[in-house]
Amino acid sequence: MTFELNETHKMIQETARQFAHDELAASADERDEKELFPHEQIKKLGELGFMGMMVPEQYGGAGLDTLSYVIAMEEISKVDASVGVIMSVNNSLVCHGLYKWGSDEQKQKYLVTLASGKKLGAFALSEPEAGSDATNQHTVAVKNGDHYILNGIKNWITNGINADYFLVMAQTDPSKGHKGISTFIVEKGMQGFSHGKKERKLGIRSSDTVSLTFESVKIPEANRIGEEGFGFKFAMMTLEGGRIGIASQALGIAQGSLDAAVKYSKERKAFGKPIADLQAIQFKLADMATEIEAARMLTYQAAALKDEGKQFGKQAAMAKLYTSKTAVKAALEAIQIHGGYGYVREYNVERYLRDAKITEIYEGTSEIQRMVISRDLLKN
Ligand code: CAA
Repeated sequence: MTFELNETHKMIQETARQFAHDELAASADERDEKELFPHEQIKKLGELGFMGMMVPEQYGGAGLDTLSYVIAMEEISKVDASVGVIMSVNNSLVCHGLYKWGSDEQKQKYLVTLASGKKLGAFALSEPEAGSDATNQHTVAVKNGDHYILNGIKNWITNGINADYFLVMAQTDPSKGHKGISTFIVEKGMQGFSHGKKERKLGIRSSDTVSLTFESVKIPEANRIGEEGFGFKFAMMTLEGGRIGIASQALGIAQGSLDAAVKYSKERKAFGKPIADLQAIQFKLADMATEIEAARMLTYQAAALKDEGKQFGKQAAMAKLYTSKTAVKAALEAIQIHGGYGYVREYNVERYLRDAKITEIYEGTSEIQRMVISRDLLKN
């Protein structure tokens, strides 16, 4: 299987690369340092059609395939992985989930503005006691006539401060365990809905991460996605696509690390010549490039399977597992090649390392990906 980029893919790549160069590169370090949310940049990404890339045009999206999304995510994350995760959550966890399983009314009311980038979305599955163990949901939604009353707490919610719409998983029948979980669309500003303080993070510092609190929030029944009890499957199937997004984000960080290392090794002189002439450096670059290419192929393969309508959960897990590990390793090697300069903020490879680490944690830790992969291998 080869992955020849067609003319559309090449155009997306060039557009994303140009955007990252013009709109993100100069300000990424400052946003990271000061924990500034990229409001303007996200608005412009929406205007480019990058906030709902896989949603058909009739619902406000760009009508592109998953490979286009992967390519754009890589280019954006190569320069600013915080912008990458904001884009990824909106595209693959919120827009894709709503497009695939939302009602037509929900699509008209919510998806159109989310996919066109006029509104921002968040995905609320994790709780204080339900991270990897996602079935252990304590948030409850009790039916009361034509609405539900929602109570509970969600943790680690990306876009939690700045999102307009939230997809929230909650127990509608706790006696049924994960089969009693349902998903609801919750709007910012609904009475009883609030967020906690912004988490102080190691990396992806210009994206916002918060806890959410629901205190007797009244949710119309029309905001439930699918049937009661469909919520856990909805979350799992949506996360399969999300993992392709995070793999692409990690791919961008890894490639950004390699690009920085190649550039620096040609500029920096030691022992009377550029360090790129030293085999110790050459071998590091060769290993980084090889692993990044393997990671890219895994990610492209998962995207292609998804676009072909085939099972892609195992490949998405493999892509996320391998690409996130590659990103951490590539960032570490880039720092090593930069020496002391890599350890300080003068060059941004230290940001790449801080940003890379989270890709091994969110949307399913590496241990969860191994669980998904091994279960698939052993299922028959
Ligand atoms: N597609 C459809 N259904 C699925 C599925 C999938 N990919 N994976 C699991 N299910 C179904 C199972 O079939 C089962 O249903 P039945 O009982 O009807 O057969 C049900 O879900 C429960 O599955 P398991 O029995 O496998 O449950 P488990 O507790 O043993 O394991 C898990 C589930 C895979 C570990 C899951 O809890 C998981 O993925 N955990 C990680 C959660 C995660 O990724 N969180 C990320 C939060 S979002 C985020 O990070 C966003 C961000 O901010 C960037």
